[in-house]
Amino acid sequence: MRPRVLVNCAMSADGKIALHSGAQTRISSEEDLARVHRLRNRCDAILVGIGTVLSDDPGLLVKERYVPRARRPLRVVLDSKGRTPRRAKVVSPDARTLIAVAGRPVRNRWGQNVEVLVAGPGPRVSIPALLDELGRRGVRSLLVEGGGEVIWSFLRSGAVDRLTIYVGSLALGGRGPTPCGGEGARSLGEAPRLRLLGAGRLGDGMLLVYGPRG
Ligand SMILES: NC(=O)c1ccc[n+]([C@@H]2O[C@H](COP(=O)([O-])OP(=O)(O)OC[C@H]3O[C@@H](n4cnc5c(N)ncnc54)[C@H](OP(=O)(O)O)[C@@H]3O)[C@@H](O)[C@H]2O)c1
Repeated sequence: MRPRVLVNCAMSADGKIALHSGAQTRISSEEDLARVHRLRNRCDAILVGIGTVLSDDPGLLVKERYVPRARRPLRVVLDSKGRTPRRAKVVSPDARTLIAVAGRPVRNRWGQNVEVLVAGPGPRVSIPALLDELGRRGVRSLLVEGGGEVIWSFLRSGAVDRLTIYVGSLALGGRGPTPCGGEGARSLGEAPRLRLLGAGRLGDGMLLVYGPRG
């Protein structure tokens, strides 16, 4: 059984998920960070793309500051060619990590807590193949944390059960990345349709909750 897929990201009031330079940008309020860490703790796996690993170097751990007796969900990186740096926080020994590559197998140069999985013939990681494999491994819930290219691929694949977007009360301007990047829809007919399930104030920002339509 494929895992339930939850996508979460934070954007500015003008719709950007990072500064124009792509550098990590704190958009979440303290209240939102607490929500995200509780969400991480409830999920079996947390996923990001290699773009986010290279720009933000996230550890993808649950902070004890927000969750006492934190769990250590499996960390998953979409990284077709195995470019994850050896010193990246996402491969630290603090939790297990799955590096999903595509096409040819990649030698594990990261450590014993890391496993390399070939998910599809390439050139990119196949999301259906990855979800099937995670399901076989008993992963029941997967939290996708970005970035924009990866979120777009998940939405386009139709695998998303929940999309939560925190809208922070700041404007970033410029041409920074947005919650959905990639090639985008070629026509309105191709655009994934969402259903707004909830909207409410959180800290000094706003939390939007969407589900798939139909
Ligand atoms: N505000 C937030 O909530 C938030 C959260 C996370 C990230 N961010 C920001 O997002 C930016 C990074 O986003 P990004 O769009 O550049 O990178 P990304 O979505 O993190 O990663 C994209 C890369 O993942 C790999 N990939 C493998 N299989 C894929 C598939 N099926 N679909 C899509 N990608 C696949 C591709 O590289 P290969 O072809 O080499 O595999 C692709 O270039 C940074 O600026 C970061 O700060 C913001």
